[in-house]
Parts: sequence; structure tokens; C-alpha cells
Amino acid sequence: MEFNIALLPGDYVGPEVIAEAVKVVDATGKGFGHKFNWHEDVIGGASIDKYGVPLREETLDLCRKCDAVLFSAAGGPKWDNPDARNPSDTAILNTRRALGLFANMRVIKVFPALVNSSTLKPEVIKDVDLIILRELTGGMYFGEPRGIEDTPNGRRGFNTMTYYESEIERIVRTGFELARRRSKKLLSVDKSNVLETSLLWRQVATRLGQEYPDVELSHMYVDAASMVLIRDPKSMDVLVMENTFGDILSDEAAMLSGSLGMIPSASLAGLPDGKAFGLYEPIHGTDPKNAGKFINNPIASILSAALMLRYSFGLETEATAIEEAVGRVVEDYRTWDIMEDGKKQIGTREMGSLIADEVLTTTR
Ligand code: IPM
Ligand code: MG
Repeated sequence: MEFNIALLPGDYVGPEVIAEAVKVVDATGKGFGHKFNWHEDVIGGASIDKYGVPLREETLDLCRKCDAVLFSAAGGPKWDNPDARNPSDTAILNTRRALGLFANMRVIKVFPALVNSSTLKPEVIKDVDLIILRELTGGMYFGEPRGIEDTPNGRRGFNTMTYYESEIERIVRTGFELARRRSKKLLSVDKSNVLETSLLWRQVATRLGQEYPDVELSHMYVDAASMVLIRDPKSMDVLVMENTFGDILSDEAAMLSGSLGMIPSASLAGLPDGKAFGLYEPIHGTDPKNAGKFINNPIASILSAALMLRYSFGLETEATAIEEAVGRVVEDYRTWDIMEDGKKQIGTREMGSLIADEVLTTTR
């Protein structure tokens, strides 16, 4: 089969790690007989440098024309302005929103070989396999009014947390559908003892629960959930939550795997039955201090590409082949972030090449 992919490498280490994802996807295409056409464009800092703006309408059009978008990370100190919101972060937020990608899945799976590279005890994180399903286009990130204003009592900053029932319903429904395909347990995370948005969230989740009698629904406050995530992450499977809570808990959950450099994400307009448009990105940032050194871990980008194969192209076998290849390579080889005694430390390109070769070996 043939697929078109919009490629947005971003800034600093972004292009370094995404190149390895491209390498692995192309190897997978070679091994399994598919053709992947890459359509590259700039976003964030690179777009500011080239066109004066962090996101162009042309870039969004390119994304819409393709079957999926592979993105890395954008922005950095060169384009930061202490008096304004970060332009590159705003560009990625606007991309998610313009493309209607309200459902963000962050897959936290601890590879057996990596149980010792987390700061948590191996017995706590062994066999962890959970998904943070984060609402991605609503809540405080986008709520109006927002701003900083002068008042007689000094300056005042304000944001608005807002959710329509329909916005809650579509993400929680996605959670139920996802839970149905996994352990049939859904944990809805909120702060309904304090926030009205959360109160509504819990009411909607409870109502939807009646449509999914086969899924066991439970609720937890976000502060308690953050605790259980590090105390007993094995007890968790699919967690669904609003945008800001998901931003915070997904970085915390990433640490179970030892490194932000391991965690992929998929941003979708709901859970597809077969194929659906989506944007795929690692959850880490651009790490400016390591840019140009080619030492950072490309696995989060590579695993994001695997999710793209699974959710946007319907290539389940191929996606699994990439994930298994990663599992085998990290038994012996490590980038600095997941390094352990007795393993061989390698750079970004070597890691990509080893995984690409490993995928090809399985198809021979
Ligand atoms: C993430 C990031 C973004 C977010 C930033 C870069 C705007 O932290 O994808 O989690 O907050 O959503
Ligand atoms: Mg984040």
C-alpha cells in the first residue's frame, strides 16, 4: 500500500530524532512492501526563520491532504519572548485544534529490558502498560477570556477552564472504546470536589458508563491519581482526563519508563475502527543543549511512527514489528538517558539504524 505523510521535523533535536523514525518507517516499508511518501514542511522556530510566523495555513493544508502527520518538537530559546506566550508551543496547540485532534493517547509501556532504568523500584514498574488519554483541544489551554490586565490592585493574570458537555462526551466515549479493546477498565480522572468543569465531567462519564456495561468505570481525583501512578501503576490501564491534568500526569507517567525519550503519542479525532487521520509526536521537547550532538534517544519518535502505522494506516503487524524491534535492541544498546552498566552506549543514528535493521531481520 502507499501512504502520504506530512513530516514536521521542528527545531533543535527535533530533526535529529525524526530522521530515525523516517529511517525505521522506510525500512518497514521495504520489509513489508509499502511505499511511504514524505512531504516535509517547517513549524515553530524554523517557520519563524523562514516565513516570519510559527505556523502557516499552507502547512495545515499540507497536513489535511496527507494520511497522517509525523511531528517531532518545536521551539527553543532562540524564539522565546518573556512577554508573550511561546510562539512554537502556540503553533503546535493551534495545529492540534485546527485539525480537530481532540484525543491524545500517551502510551506508557515499560520494556522488560528497561525495568532498571527508572528511578522507581523494578517491582513497581515491571509490566506497566497503561494509556493516558488526554483531552487535547479544550479546557484552560484554549478557554476565553484569558490574559494579563492592569487593575487598581496590581496586575492580574487569568485563564478560563471551560468544557462543553459534547467535548467531554466525545473524549470519554473514546476512553470507553479504548478500554473495551484492552482490560475493560476505565479510570476517569477529575477534580469534581472543587471544579464545576470536573463535576460536569463526572456526570457525563457516569451517564456514558450505562452504555458500556462491559467496561468497569471508576473515578479518581487528579491529586490521588498522581499518587497511585507512582505507588501502584500496574493497577492502572486506561486513564481519561481533561487537557491540563493530562499534560501533567503524562509527564509523570513517562518517568515510569525511565525517560521522556521513550514515550510516543497519537493525537486523533476519536478512536478509529480502521484507518484515521492523526498526528504523531514524541512527548519530549527540543532539548536545545543537546542539539547538534546526535546523542538523544530517537525511540519516542520511532514508537510514535509505529502508532501512526497502527492507527492511521491500519498496519498492525508492521507497528508491532517496530515495537518488538525496539524491545530487542534496548536489551543491549542504550542512549545516554536510559544507560545502565553493562550496556553499550550509542547515539541517535546508531539507535535508529539498529532498530531499522532489526525490523528488516524479522521480515526476512
Ligand atoms: C505536550 C507539551 C505541550 C502541551 C506544549 C509544548 C504546549 O507539553 O505535548 O505535552 O502542553 O500540550
Ligand atoms: Mg506536556
